[in-house]
Amino acid sequence: MRALQKKFYIETFGCQMNVFDSERIIYIMEKEGYVRTSDPECSEIILINTCSVREKAENKLFGHIGNLKSLKIKKPGLLICIGGCTAQNKSAEIINKFPYVDIVFGTANINKLPDLISERLLKNRSVCDTGDFPETFDYLYDFKRQYSFKALLPIMIGCNNYCSYCIVPFVRGRERSAGFDQIIKTAEKLAGEGVVEITLLGQNVNSYGQDLKTGHENFAKLLSEISQIKALKRIRFMTSHPGDFNEDIIDVISENNNIMNHVHLPLQAGSDRILKKMNRHYTSADFKKIYYMIKEKIPDCAVTTDIIVGFPEEKEEDFLKTLKLVKELRFNRAFTFIYSTRKGTSAELLEDSVSADTKRLWFRNLLELQNKISLEENMKLVGKKLKVLVEGYSLKNNQLEGRLENNLIVNFRGDEEMIGKFIKLKITDAKSFYLKGKISE
Ligand code: SAH
Ligand code: SF4
Ligand code: F3S
Repeated sequence: MRALQKKFYIETFGCQMNVFDSERIIYIMEKEGYVRTSDPECSEIILINTCSVREKAENKLFGHIGNLKSLKIKKPGLLICIGGCTAQNKSAEIINKFPYVDIVFGTANINKLPDLISERLLKNRSVCDTGDFPETFDYLYDFKRQYSFKALLPIMIGCNNYCSYCIVPFVRGRERSAGFDQIIKTAEKLAGEGVVEITLLGQNVNSYGQDLKTGHENFAKLLSEISQIKALKRIRFMTSHPGDFNEDIIDVISENNNIMNHVHLPLQAGSDRILKKMNRHYTSADFKKIYYMIKEKIPDCAVTTDIIVGFPEEKEEDFLKTLKLVKELRFNRAFTFIYSTRKGTSAELLEDSVSADTKRLWFRNLLELQNKISLEENMKLVGKKLKVLVEGYSLKNNQLEGRLENNLIVNFRGDEEMIGKFIKLKITDAKSFYLKGKISE
């Protein structure tokens, strides 16, 4: 008789890089003989991959770990493992606050997970390893894809920009690029396995290669080389930093049909005074120059962005500059955030001078404006026939979800066999964040 297989449960918070890291964790756990379950109550190991970009994410996590205590009491053999960016940043706090947590592991030593589990079982006390950020990427491409037809592929990890508000350089280390050939080989392998869409990931994806010291490996060249893999029908990349975005990249996108017409280009603020305090290394005029260069060379390129409101010492006149720029540039979508002080960042030293009420008001004003713009832009697509890659069922309404070239989701009625395939839809209706469609010939 086969022994009962041990089960693990995993939960992921944060950005695409964390989603990818969870794919690495799943690969490792399955290699160790564990089977994934969607029910934490049935698992022998619970893994939580955490994000620390804003305080809210951290507080939610702490509440969540607190809730696991009752499960641990019911099932003392259960191993609770906390990984990711908050684990990297606050390992001691996690162990002190929650003594029933078994393992805390950092962002750079995921491959040590089996050793940490053995150590925990042997020593019968909590183990913590947040390690050093390695120079090489030996294990980076051992991962278990969530989808058979699309894949995430980090090409660089870490960040050298030190935007004054941001914790990422502290929890991910300095920029390290994967080898050019290693990336191309992996992309070819994925294409050979039936992957048609690939998203190149990096905290600052377009500064790829700057640390490789060969002097001739850069993001535009990498993108161009990957686009030669013709089985890859859709190539995406994120996140781009406006300071490193250039004409070469725009040319490569416009010259290759399989590179999607979508750029996520975080603006963060419309006021030069605030951009300077944020240490973003560009002015609103620099941003506009890149934006209009993209639109001129690729007229139907979607541009999405991130914006922070309520940065320390931000005045109403600064905020109004953000609103004005958002009105002018008409992003397809903006992810908007209320400033959150992060310990250890240089902005922590500035006075968090904007009141909570003002932050909320500005946030609402910006959101209202952007929702209106997104809706107006999306309405322009109604009546058009466009191709989506079908990703699966929508959680909301049991309909299928497909993604357009510009990264927008379209809901439509269709059959399960369509998942993973390209389908032509007629767009029938638009909302601020998604579209509705029906199958078209
Ligand atoms: N590397 C990317 C994304 C970093 S995190 C970039 O440079 O754009 C994603 C977004 O979270 C950021 O673009 C920023 O808008 C927001 N963010 C980061 N730190 C924050 C903080 N302390 N408070 C509020 N929002 C923050
Ligand atoms: Fe954070 Fe700035 Fe780096 Fe983005 S570029 S990860 S916002 S420090
Ligand atoms: Fe969060 Fe870490 Fe990503 S802090 S946004 S999960 S790099």
